[in-house]
Amino acid sequence: MTGRPCRRSCRVLARYTLMPIELNHTIVHARDPQASAAFLADLLGRDAPIRFGPFYGVELDNRVTLDFIQADQELTIEHYAFLVSEEEFDQIFGRIQARKLAYWADPAHKQPGTINHHDGGRGVYWNDPNGHYLEIITRPYGGG
Ligand SMILES: [Fe+2]
Repeated sequence: MTGRPCRRSCRVLARYTLMPIELNHTIVHARDPQASAAFLADLLGRDAPIRFGPFYGVELDNRVTLDFIQADQELTIEHYAFLVSEEEFDQIFGRIQARKLAYWADPAHKQPGTINHHDGGRGVYWNDPNGHYLEIITRPYGGG
């Protein structure tokens, strides 16, 4: 510090330190990005994916976008968990069941055909067409 009074530089610093940091987007590798994005959008009840260059984006309510792109190499299986309301859980879980998708109460797939009630809410796991592990929960881990 120079010992000079804090003026513009402190205001600029304060503005940046107060600005929240939010996840904006992430890339999801897929064998068929269009179909995979449509699968997720359909199950979550989101708008149809938006194409942006090589990506097919699925936007969530908190403005995070999952950008599906063609995988050129072997896929690394990832995990994506979505916090939903109780009503949304009913709707999404209903779509999972209507499509006769396999689902589990746990990420290790040891409890098939059932859901969990962790943290006083509900949760369930299923896979997307690439094998990515998808999850919906009505309470954040730890109850938050
Ligand atoms: Fe999870």
